[in-house]
Amino acid sequence: MRPAGQATTLAEYVARQQARVDDALERWVPPESTLPESIHKAMRYSLFAGGKRIRPILCLAAAEAVSDAPAGIESAACTLELVHTYSLIHDDLPALDNDDLRRGVPTCHKVFGDAIAILAGDALLTLAFQVLAQLECGADRKVALIAELSTAAGTVGGMIGGQVCDLEGEGRHPNAALLETIHRAKTGALLRASLRMGGIYAGADHKQLDALSCYGKHVGLAFQIIDDVLDVEQPSEALGKTAGKDAQQHKITFPAVYGLERSRAMAEEERLAAHLALRPFDKRAERLRELADFIVHRRA
Ligand code: IPE
Ligand code: IPE
Ligand code: MG
Ligand code: MG
Ligand code: MG
Repeated sequence: MRPAGQATTLAEYVARQQARVDDALERWVPPESTLPESIHKAMRYSLFAGGKRIRPILCLAAAEAVSDAPAGIESAACTLELVHTYSLIHDDLPALDNDDLRRGVPTCHKVFGDAIAILAGDALLTLAFQVLAQLECGADRKVALIAELSTAAGTVGGMIGGQVCDLEGEGRHPNAALLETIHRAKTGALLRASLRMGGIYAGADHKQLDALSCYGKHVGLAFQIIDDVLDVEQPSEALGKTAGKDAQQHKITFPAVYGLERSRAMAEEERLAAHLALRPFDKRAERLRELADFIVHRRA
């Protein structure tokens, strides 16, 4: 039984956490009227266009699995969304995936031009670390959080490294080992960091942090497998982004290497492994279990 007043369904929980994240983003991102207006408009345009907020929600749920509502955790969580949204703006640029649609609206560069879109991405990334530097937690935890986010966003096994391999893999023969390397880095690293950052902020011990890392590794891979599957199966209207892009651009994806059925089965294996990773936690990790199911069974 959950205490009275607490959301009961996952949908209600997600909606409540999204609102907490959006409030934090609202506080940290300068208003549109702040000079120079164009950059703040572009940052806000992409940030508040929608988005599932899955990374900050995983961060909040990881913290809840470790301790009761640590003060200021929303600010730490929203840094993941700042970095994620920056990565989307840059991913959509003509020089990368060249996409026109994101979160159901025209991409940042379509509305503001390439230069402002590049700078809006840079600005969101920079703001993430400004927010981390000002967190309410102690200096040791702050430094650990900065190390987590910068490593996950970086070039060695991190998001940028993964994006480089994704781009350089276009048109190359699909290869299972390269596929896993790309997906673990371009998407998995930030997802895993989301869990670890929630744990670190809440004061997780080594065993808890290892369990959260293992869960994060599995949901991180599952997340990108399903992103690849949905790119094939769903229409653009459902995705809020251009469907069928991966095949068009000859990307190395799970469906390209394994086919749709086997890809879904592999995501299911990752979901079960994520559940197993949470064994050291009791009912406090129930939301993380539900979120692993949501990540694999989602339709967009
Ligand atoms: C899309 O991420 C890009 C990937 C890393 C696969 P999301 O599916 O989390 O996108 P939003 O934030 O909900 O728009
Ligand atoms: C992007 O992967 C991963 C990022 C680091 C942004 P995709 O290129 O598959 O993401 P979508 O499908 O455009 O959202
Ligand atoms: Mg891409
Ligand atoms: Mg893309
Ligand atoms: Mg994709």
